[in-house]
Amino acid sequence: MRFSTLLIQALSLTASLASAVAIEKRQSTTQVYKFSSPTSAEGIAVRSNGQLLVSFFDKAELWTIDPATKKATKLVSFEGATCSAGIAEIAPDVFAVVAGQFSFSGGNKAGSWAIWKVDFTSGTAVASVLKKVPESGFFNGLTTFDNSTILIGDASKGAVWRMDTKTGAYSIAIQDALMNPAANAGIPMGLDGLRYSNGTVWFTNVSKNSLHKVAVDATGKATGSIATIWSNTFSDDLWVGSDGSAYVATGSAGKIQKVSPDGKVSTVASVSGSTAVVLGRTEADKNTLYIATGNGLIASVKV
Ligand SMILES: *[C@@H]1O[C@H](CO)[C@@H](O)[C@H](O)[C@H]1NC(C)=O
Ligand SMILES: *[C@@H]1O[C@H](CO)[C@@H](O)[C@H](O)[C@H]1NC(C)=O
Ligand SMILES: *[C@@H]1O[C@H](CO)[C@@H](O)[C@H](O)[C@H]1NC(C)=O
Repeated sequence: MRFSTLLIQALSLTASLASAVAIEKRQSTTQVYKFSSPTSAEGIAVRSNGQLLVSFFDKAELWTIDPATKKATKLVSFEGATCSAGIAEIAPDVFAVVAGQFSFSGGNKAGSWAIWKVDFTSGTAVASVLKKVPESGFFNGLTTFDNSTILIGDASKGAVWRMDTKTGAYSIAIQDALMNPAANAGIPMGLDGLRYSNGTVWFTNVSKNSLHKVAVDATGKATGSIATIWSNTFSDDLWVGSDGSAYVATGSAGKIQKVSPDGKVSTVASVSGSTAVVLGRTEADKNTLYIATGNGLIASVKV
């Protein structure tokens, strides 16, 4: 494991030296924190005070990391769940988090998934179930849509759910074959990463190595056909910056890809096993991309 990581780093270094002559800006990353248990960081978000929030595929826990002191603290254990995933801010300093029952040995338990609410407004993290969804297949991606709505990616049903964050009312907003898991997928996951920004829903199909986007109306329903940005690079979760640039974690592909507003794709960092990314929110780190990985590393890179 360690050897192969070093080898990958060496190869990446070679690649970055080689591409230094090209226009591509590919950088190595800086460690913010390294988790040992839990290990599989899956979701990452930033509070307005700059503190990071991290969820885990191998444990239903939410942790916080102070990027300045590089210290991590466990905040929440999601009761009755074994896996946690997407995180999205639904009101100032109030976050929604996906949690349910999945394990690498036992697989996914359809119907076990819920959206939890973690509220920091009292000064400490207060967790409660926002809504359990018995019709859930395999929830993973999560994104804020408007003041009172989140969109949830369902990786096994190949659907995007919408949920009212005040009432918990939910329904399917988009369902498309492009969001289905591949028939031969090891883990039955299609739609994985999910991000709404400026009238567009971006999503990845983790079993098809693809990134897509589609324009949606005010209810979250697709208004046009789904565009494919690529279909040759493993793609996990993504973040869209205020300038419209998308940053995509590519897991085993070993890099962070940027899609500029003009559609140009470039590589901004080399990192192994990335699962999710988010841009900093303070003046000091608004150009810093924080990266979660499945091997416990939380890293950062200037973009
Ligand atoms: C969000 O809520 C605020 C106040 O509750 C309101 O003023 C604003 O118009 C809302 N924005 C949207 C996009 O609905
Ligand atoms: C996502 O997976 C489904 C199921 O295999 C497939 O139909 C769809 O084409 C995939 N998406 C892409 C872009 O290939
Ligand atoms: C938002 O979308 C509009 C319409 O497509 C586009 O003109 C504008 O540049 C976009 N803004 C950002 C920040 O992406």
